[in-house]
Amino acid sequence: MDIVDSIEAMRALRKTWRDAGQTVGYVPTMGNLHDGHLSLLDRARAQCDRTICSIYVNPLQFDQSKDLERYPRTLEEDMEKLRALGADALFVPSDTMIYPRGMAHATTVDVPGITDILEGAHRRGHFVGVATVVCKLFNLVQPHVAVFGEKDFQQLLVVKRMAADLNLPVEVIGAATSREANGLARSSRNGYLTDTERDKAAEILRTLRAVAHALQQGEREFAELERSAAQRLADAGFEPDYVTVRSTLDLEPPHDDEGPDAWVVLVAAQLGKARLIDNLRVADATPD
Ligand code: PAJ
Repeated sequence: MDIVDSIEAMRALRKTWRDAGQTVGYVPTMGNLHDGHLSLLDRARAQCDRTICSIYVNPLQFDQSKDLERYPRTLEEDMEKLRALGADALFVPSDTMIYPRGMAHATTVDVPGITDILEGAHRRGHFVGVATVVCKLFNLVQPHVAVFGEKDFQQLLVVKRMAADLNLPVEVIGAATSREANGLARSSRNGYLTDTERDKAAEILRTLRAVAHALQQGEREFAELERSAAQRLADAGFEPDYVTVRSTLDLEPPHDDEGPDAWVVLVAAQLGKARLIDNLRVADATPD
């Protein structure tokens, strides 16, 4: 596996692949790789001749310096996992490569509307940071296909919309959320949970499923459903930021002309030291 740690080397590798007529699948990450990240790489590989992953903990998307400082960095282990999986290359840019004039003076990408709600409302500036770094990484890696997790449903929509609005020549694909045996969505931040909290965190998927099933059965009192779901999480020891039913199209409240198959239930909740986010498309909620 090639370890690429300069922009020149990235451009050179990209040229080699282009000259050989190979298609490139790309998975951007912040490292501390788990099976969720690796499933995205599998997806990229199924579709492309070459697969490349990047690891870059992007300071521009963190609204709290404490969160940035404590973010888990496990480069050696990550490289082993990527090698074992057969990835062709790993791109590890530095802060000065990505923000040569410093973050305060960087040209940024702002995707309006969809970035102000939900995670954007709770983490100011977060999606400008995400859209900016993903745009830059796309320009450096120049992939044919880029795979993102549905686990971060809003991020996936933001990236898709950015790529469409800026006419970026990349196909952005969403891949299913990878979960622990108890239903907890895999996340680098799960490492902040104690064993007891990890067990308790299974309540998130149970709550999402309960809301989705109610919608499937015709329940339409959205506000009441959301309120009781948030209460269920609070009773279980979470501090919920939101539990909400939205349209998968634009993350606005359900549109009149849509049925439940067009909806997604999204949740964000603090549990101990971790802020957990998860979601479930109503169409994906199988009966208990
Ligand atoms: P990170 O949190 O490392 O996630 C990298 C990719 O893995 C994202 O597309 C995310 O949605 C996906 N992912 C995380 N957990 C997953 C799971 N349990 N199942 C499936 N996919 C999962 O998201 C970021 O990094 C950053 O914001 C980034 C896009 C790299 C920009 O800095």
